[in-house]
Amino acid sequence: MNKIAVLTSGGDAPGMNTAIRAVVRRGIFKGLDVFGVQNGYKGLMDGDFVSMNLGSVRDIIHRGGTILQSTRCSEFKIAEGQQQALAQLKKEGIGGLIVIGGNGSFEGARKLTVEGFPTIGIPGTIDNDIAGTDYTIGFDTAVNTAVEAIDKIRDTAASHERTYVIEVMGRDAGDIALWAGMCAGAESIIIPEADHDVEDVIDRIKQGYQRGKTHSIIVVAEGAFNGSVGKGIEIGRVIREKTGFDTKVTILGHLQRGGSPSAYDRMMSSQMGAKAVDLLVEGEKGVMVGLKNGKLIHSSFGEAAKDKHTIDLSIYHLARSLSI
Ligand code: F6P
Repeated sequence: MNKIAVLTSGGDAPGMNTAIRAVVRRGIFKGLDVFGVQNGYKGLMDGDFVSMNLGSVRDIIHRGGTILQSTRCSEFKIAEGQQQALAQLKKEGIGGLIVIGGNGSFEGARKLTVEGFPTIGIPGTIDNDIAGTDYTIGFDTAVNTAVEAIDKIRDTAASHERTYVIEVMGRDAGDIALWAGMCAGAESIIIPEADHDVEDVIDRIKQGYQRGKTHSIIVVAEGAFNGSVGKGIEIGRVIREKTGFDTKVTILGHLQRGGSPSAYDRMMSSQMGAKAVDLLVEGEKGVMVGLKNGKLIHSSFGEAAKDKHTIDLSIYHLARSLSI
């Protein structure tokens, strides 16, 4: 294999650029020609390849977003779309593809490998929701962004004696809410992986006020109510009506997707990017790089998809016991 390509797909995540840099530089170090694919699977179908050199990835280690752009591409989900992409790869003489993205992106990569084309996945999503790995690139930065925002909200909540409901991203997973809630000392955390009851949240707020607390922070995962974004507004309304407390709602939204990647995300992206190249060179295909128990591993897309992403509920229970 002389030529490889890399693309980013799905929602962008801080650290994707660091991973692209690692793929390009490791690939060149291994004597390969490396191409970037613009606009994810859409660009793959259109043959939107850019030749990358050492300078193409200069000064991006610290930049959020993805220099290759990203899309969610429905045309690629059908067989014709995949055949079109394979034809473009063949035309350019590319022998392997590295896909940086989430579950949907890996499904696309798996299909290419079923057709005989070598692909390797790098988990890149702020949601941390990919089975087969304990960590996804961007999660650490997103959690830090959320914690920083919640700390700021706490300042004003304290000044005005208010209750704040703060909705965070995560799609169907509660990881961002759990970590941000724990690290920002939220009074309650509402995640899809644990039973939730607004009455319990209200009781906890009232108990806090009786003991002299002047404000409360409730962190809600967007996926806690069957993925209905904006449910935080509803919860805020119920709390306001039932307690009479001045209750505000903030939806953190896409600000959680941007920003300079944290040191941890840069470390993981660099290691995973290089590992993905090494795996391709060794002849692996249809696998994703992951982190398990602190070690880099790889597992087949199929194997990883059989598992379900799980959350450490002991953190949830600990957070509850620390916020009484
Ligand atoms: O998967 C990342 C993510 O930011 C989720 O947390 C969120 O539900 C979704 O993407 C938002 O997608 P979009 O940017 O397409 O609105």
